[in-house]
Amino acid sequence: MKVLIHNSAELAQQAVADILTARILAHPASVIGLATGGTMEVVYDRLIRAIAREAVPVRDLVTFNLDEYWGLAPAHPASYRSYMNARLFGPAGIPLERTFLPVADAADPAAESDAYELRIREAGGIDLQLLGIGQNGHIGFNEPTSSLASRTRLKTLTQSTRKANQQYFGADEATPEYAITMGIGTILDARECLLLATGSNKAEAVSRMIEGPLGAHCPASALQLHPKATIILDADAASALE
Ligand code: F6R
Repeated sequence: MKVLIHNSAELAQQAVADILTARILAHPASVIGLATGGTMEVVYDRLIRAIAREAVPVRDLVTFNLDEYWGLAPAHPASYRSYMNARLFGPAGIPLERTFLPVADAADPAAESDAYELRIREAGGIDLQLLGIGQNGHIGFNEPTSSLASRTRLKTLTQSTRKANQQYFGADEATPEYAITMGIGTILDARECLLLATGSNKAEAVSRMIEGPLGAHCPASALQLHPKATIILDADAASALE
C-alpha cells in the first residue's frame, strides 16, 4: 500500500485527477472503475478540465462504476447514473454506451449482479479502480462485515451510510435502503486501486484501513492485500495515522 499525504484537499484531488489523466493519455482504451460521492466531485471537475486542455482521448475508454442505489430509476436526479452523466461523462464527452453502472431497476438484482461481473470480465477486467471510503470504512457499498471475497450483489445500506447520503435526496424522500455494489473481491481484482480520502471525518476510517487489523469490520482494510493500491490523503484525513 502506497500512502501519499498532501497538505490540502485541493492538492490531493488534483493528484488523483493527474493520475487518471496520465493513465488515459498513456492507455486510451483503459477500463476504469469509478466512484461517486462528494469526494470525487472536484476530482471529476479537474479531470474534465485536463481532458479539454490536453486533448485527452476518451472515446475508447470503458468505465464501470462501483455501485448504484437499488430501486431508483437511472433518470432519478440522485441516481449514480445521473451523477456520472452530469459530473463526468457528459462534460468530458465519454460515449455513454461505453459507461456501465449496475442497472438498479432491473427485475432481478441477483441476475443483474452476475451480469455486471460478466460485463467486467468481458471488458478484460478493470485496469484502475478509483475509490472513496465511508466513515464506517466501507468501499463501494461494502458495509462492515461484508465478506472480503464478496462479488457484485445487493447490499443493505447501514443507517450511518443512509444518513451521510440523505443530503442528496429531497426532504420528503429517504435514501434507498439497498444498493447493488461491486464486491470486495471484485474490487481486489482490479489491476490497480486508487483511493482518495479528504477531511477529518474520514480520519478514523483511514487509520483503520491502513494501520488497523485486516478484517471485515473495516472493508477498506482489504486493500492491504492488494499488490498495487495507492491511498491519497489530505492532512485532515491522515490526522489519526500514527
Ligand atoms: C460511491 C462509493 C462510496 C463512497 C463513500 C464516500 O460510489 O462507492 O464508497 O466513495 O461513501 O462518499 P463521500 O465521498 O460522499 O464521502
